[in-house]
Amino acid sequence: MFSTKIAGIGSYLPEKVVTNQDLEKVMDTNDEWIQERTGIRERRYGKKHEETTTTMGARAAEMAIERAGIKKEEVDFIIFATLSPDYYFPGCGVLVQRELGITTGEAGALDIRNQCSGFVYGLSIADQFVKTGMYKNVLLIGAEMHSMGLDFSTRGRNVTVLFGDGAGAVVLQPTTEPGKGILTTHLHSDGTFAEKLAFINPGSHGGYHMGRMDEPMDFGYSDAEYGDIFVNQHMLDNGQLFPNMDGPLVFKMAVQKFPEVIMEALQKTGLTPADIDMFVPHQANLRISSFVQKKLGLADHQVWNNIQKYGNTTAATIPIALAEALEAGAVKDGDLVCLAAFGSGFTWGSALIRW
Ligand code: ACO
Repeated sequence: MFSTKIAGIGSYLPEKVVTNQDLEKVMDTNDEWIQERTGIRERRYGKKHEETTTTMGARAAEMAIERAGIKKEEVDFIIFATLSPDYYFPGCGVLVQRELGITTGEAGALDIRNQCSGFVYGLSIADQFVKTGMYKNVLLIGAEMHSMGLDFSTRGRNVTVLFGDGAGAVVLQPTTEPGKGILTTHLHSDGTFAEKLAFINPGSHGGYHMGRMDEPMDFGYSDAEYGDIFVNQHMLDNGQLFPNMDGPLVFKMAVQKFPEVIMEALQKTGLTPADIDMFVPHQANLRISSFVQKKLGLADHQVWNNIQKYGNTTAATIPIALAEALEAGAVKDGDLVCLAAFGSGFTWGSALIRW
């Protein structure tokens, strides 16, 4: 029986730095509010018309593949996690395959839509394929190009200031080294509050879930028997093609679910928070990470945060932060690494890895 190890990791952050002061110029917000509530000082935005979720994912993947010491043609399965895909369909999995030039091997490509917990979900899926011996080199990518789909008017300020663009990737391989690799993964979800952190248009809902929304909304549907549901002029005119979030609810649920799912992983493996050498939380908000850190009794050197520089890059935050921690020498051979995420759905999960 194999375990699954992270054989290579890569990240990509676009060059353009957008500070809180830059956002002050386009909407009614301010640096003090953003830093105090989220910890974010700046974020990166991809280059319009040149960079996409796929291209950024490909750059991170190339680095991960090189560091894993394999040829890109050896990738036998691709998992792509994003909430900001290049196309509604097909997904970024096949696009990144084309971008990397590895279509000849016909590796399978799977797109997963688990938003902030996409990377942890992807890691667990990859783990099932690798430890059973089905695949030898699974490429898992988390990438986001949020900047193309945010509301840059004051109406969208509670969401827009949080997010940034970027990508991270890992190559997962089997290992027979005793005690090494992914020790356990735990995945959960609860759709009760699906609309509380959501991007509902364009979509096929046609108002069906209206009772789940805070207040009845007019989406401008016509009386036509077919069509006119997915996207229409009314949605464009009324700012209904942007993400929405009930911030206080997300905060409340996140600070409850993060510790729960981490403790679940620790209990499963007979470990305690004191055994964690490095905790890499999904970078949702520095206040959420600090709360979880305190709850678990972790010291600053046991936690890696970089939301201050990159904002929330959703499916990409964990691999970007983990790559950074490794590059800084903060994760060493034999260390216990804990990953955890919570986000839209709601979905949440954790993973423990012996490095
Ligand atoms: N700049 C200035 N003022 C703002 C901004 C902004 N960018 N956004 C909102 N405000 C205002 C609101 O309009 C409101 O004003 P009012 O009191 O006059 O009505 C006031 O600030 C307070 O708004 P709240 O939403 O209640 O602010 P809160 O203290 O809850 O902080 C925040 C908002 C930071 C979003 C918080 O709720 C939070 O951290 N929630 C967690 C959400 C999160 O992390 N999401 C990340 C994505 S999901 C994930 O990755 C888990």
